[in-house]
Amino acid sequence: MLVEIKNLSKFFIQKAGHKFTALSHVNLKVRQGEFVALLGPSGCGKTTLLNIIAGLDHPSAGQAAVDGKTVHGPGPDRVVVFQESALFPWLTSVQNVEFGLKVAGIEAKTRRRKALEYLQMVQLSQFAGEFPHQLSGGMRQRLAMARALVMNPKILLMDEPFAALDEQTRGKLQGDLGEIWENTGKTIIFVTHNIREALIMADRVCIFATGPGRIKRELFIPIPRPRNPEDTRLLLMEKQVREILREEIARVNPGERKNIQEPADEGIISSLERRIGAISRGSWM
Ligand SMILES: Nc1ncnc2c1ncn2[C@@H]1O[C@H](COP(=O)(O)OP(=O)(O)O)[C@@H](O)[C@H]1O
Ligand SMILES: [Mg+2]
Repeated sequence: MLVEIKNLSKFFIQKAGHKFTALSHVNLKVRQGEFVALLGPSGCGKTTLLNIIAGLDHPSAGQAAVDGKTVHGPGPDRVVVFQESALFPWLTSVQNVEFGLKVAGIEAKTRRRKALEYLQMVQLSQFAGEFPHQLSGGMRQRLAMARALVMNPKILLMDEPFAALDEQTRGKLQGDLGEIWENTGKTIIFVTHNIREALIMADRVCIFATGPGRIKRELFIPIPRPRNPEDTRLLLMEKQVREILREEIARVNPGERKNIQEPADEGIISSLERRIGAISRGSWM
């Protein structure tokens, strides 16, 4: 097993010494080459778990292991891509991608060649000489992906990487990441609070619950790729996930609702409900 989380809990000491349980008894196994989504409302501990796997934080109890070894800190086998990627503003695209290779002591020619290769993978070849501020949000996230992938990590840890993008750009990047995943065979752990994104992208979705943060359900998505967002099987799974999450959201701050139920989803869901109605009336197919 590539990643194994065993009975992991995480406490934070908050104001007035209050001990807050961010994660409670989490168990998770991720196989080499798998694409797993961690889905749940904000505050359920997704980032905390990702950071622990990355070695940027440590568990209070239990264990996180990669390749059979307990995680004690960051390593070259794991790279994180964040929502707002901290690209170096004073470096061009190609220099940003090269940076990690330079730190790793790779000689100039080789690292330039590799950086250009990965820029091509994320369709940014034309923008090799541009600075991050000259790129769109979607292009910056592509650049962040190239910068992560060029290090050839075993595991790509992605924390809501497309959350700040408009719907169309997000859809395009989801498709591209899916292709990159298929072509490179990377293991991807992808955090999102967007149900459709989790279902379109992942082999398996871990649905989190809050109070305390934990994995409530795991759902396999046995639908071949490329997946059509309008696929009835996906729409039915979306409804199922939404119901699981609805119970959760009701227990949290109602203000969190918007994180899960985006207005654009409503049309899909009502059309889905009509279709389900058609199925139950026997008029399906
Ligand atoms: N360093 C910290 N100190 C105190 N509380 C924290 C810290 N990091 C996260 N938390 C709390 O832990 C919970 C889970 O946070 P997080 O993992 O960021 O959730 P998510 O990524 O699912 O939105 C939240 O309630 C958050 O306030
Ligand atoms: Mg988070």
